[in-house]
Amino acid sequence: MPLGGPGRAGAHEPAWHHTAVVYQVYLRSFADGSGDGIGDLAGLAARLPYLRDLGVDAIWLNPWYRSPMADGGYDVADYRDIDPVFGTLAEAEALIQAAHAEQLRVILDIVPNHCSDQHRWFTAAVAAGPGSAERARFWFRPGRGASGELPPNDWRSMFGGAAWTRVTERDGSPGEWYLHMYAPEQPDLNWDNSEVRAEFEDVLRFWLDRGADGFRIDVADFLVKDPALPDVAGLPAGARMPWEDQDGLHDIYRSWRRLIESYPGDRVFVGEMWLKPLTRLRPYLAGDQLHSAFNFDFLGAPWDAGRLRQVIDTALGSIGAAAPWVLSNHDVTRHLTRYGRTSTGMDWRPDQGAADLALGTRRARAAVLLSLALPGSSYLYQGEELGLWEVEDIPDELIADPIFLRTEHRVRGRDGCRVPLPWHPDAPGFGFGPAGGAAPWLPQPEAWRQLATAAQAGDPGSMLAHYRAALRVRAARDFLDDDSLTWLSAPDGVLAFSRPGRFACVVNISAAPVPLPPDAEVLLASGELDDGKLPPDTAAWMRTSAASCAGR
Ligand code: NOJ
Repeated sequence: MPLGGPGRAGAHEPAWHHTAVVYQVYLRSFADGSGDGIGDLAGLAARLPYLRDLGVDAIWLNPWYRSPMADGGYDVADYRDIDPVFGTLAEAEALIQAAHAEQLRVILDIVPNHCSDQHRWFTAAVAAGPGSAERARFWFRPGRGASGELPPNDWRSMFGGAAWTRVTERDGSPGEWYLHMYAPEQPDLNWDNSEVRAEFEDVLRFWLDRGADGFRIDVADFLVKDPALPDVAGLPAGARMPWEDQDGLHDIYRSWRRLIESYPGDRVFVGEMWLKPLTRLRPYLAGDQLHSAFNFDFLGAPWDAGRLRQVIDTALGSIGAAAPWVLSNHDVTRHLTRYGRTSTGMDWRPDQGAADLALGTRRARAAVLLSLALPGSSYLYQGEELGLWEVEDIPDELIADPIFLRTEHRVRGRDGCRVPLPWHPDAPGFGFGPAGGAAPWLPQPEAWRQLATAAQAGDPGSMLAHYRAALRVRAARDFLDDDSLTWLSAPDGVLAFSRPGRFACVVNISAAPVPLPPDAEVLLASGELDDGKLPPDTAAWMRTSAASCAGR
């Protein structure tokens, strides 16, 4: 089957990305081919057969561009080149081709809200001084206070601290301030500036010409700001912030959509709008804008049947299947750990207590069956197929996440979900890199030896075998025919729904075993059945015609 076929899907055949299972590759922690302890393109290229055999449809790569890595690559210094730590542009081009040869589409991460303070535009802006065309590509403003010693407004960085940093002018005097919604090394671009718009269209073309099948848009909701940059103190909770101007965004996304659709094949835009509630995603997806936006309500939901059902209903009721189901990514505590805690929702507060990893594993096995059975597409985060947990004891001096620094070490940040993958139980660094290479850039727990891919491969009870089986059943596609989902009647604490083709999914989040529908033919279960019943924290896929799983 050739990828990226000649035209868009016909009226009755949804585009590939509508139902795709996408595997997120956090490149610097996936596999190290060069031996420097950091994952790279050579490592990924060598593991493409692993991803093909896993059964996913596409990969999404976190930023691979040239970057000083102040925020793991989300501080881009050159959007048209690859960072040397990852490889070369030629390797990136070859990687896209090699992935296509394995029937894997490739989604790239585009970072339009901000660049690096080492980007040529920003260094030129600092040098050029106030009032220059170079500064107009960013948000430079004089400070407040008698001598401009206070930031221009009260905005706070998403990583903690003020969202403004003051520059020193060429004559050595304290100068203007520039806006950064994230780290100071990530100055925000001004999307009212036509050069910024033209530049990003060109960058998109650059990667589309090299075969990219789509883009995950970082911070997709923050690009357009109210140019008055008003203070936010006193705005009611939930109010739209002055960095979320939707009207301006519609034009940008429409023109990007026109651009992407001028290329052959179905290519996709997925928006990342951090923790934006589902009910507020619709304006970005309406008509000819983004194709989809991550479902962070699902990711953040506790392991609770009522809450999960509410999120699923809200998603399907408000934006249909346009919000990919996602349980984990490189920014959040791994869901296996969250599900093993007393409080199972997404929460970054420190001191949340130890997680029961056996319970978390059991629930994670069930959760993936839930998310893969829902209408639409799903994103898997590397390592979840191995049952990896959040590493919560990384020594302070090894933590690289800017959140740790900018919160005066109060919030440990996201490195615990970015620990390099284990591939071989018996090799140093569990085979993350080649023999004789440097140790992985973050230390792996000793207990991951048994979770290495090679250790799980032959074990039918392993998490890896479970993911492979689930993806194999899903690939048969017969329940993906349309987006319909019908809730079946079920006891409290049990989620049960049917999909086309007599397919049904039952997830038991209650404390008691639950009978399956009378005529159920079980296709796959996340754990052993108990005398024909589905035990707590277990899910099953089945064929059934019944409208109830209360048993008879
Ligand atoms: C969202 C990305 O997922 C995160 O890793 C990054 O730090 C911020 N956007 C800023 O680019």
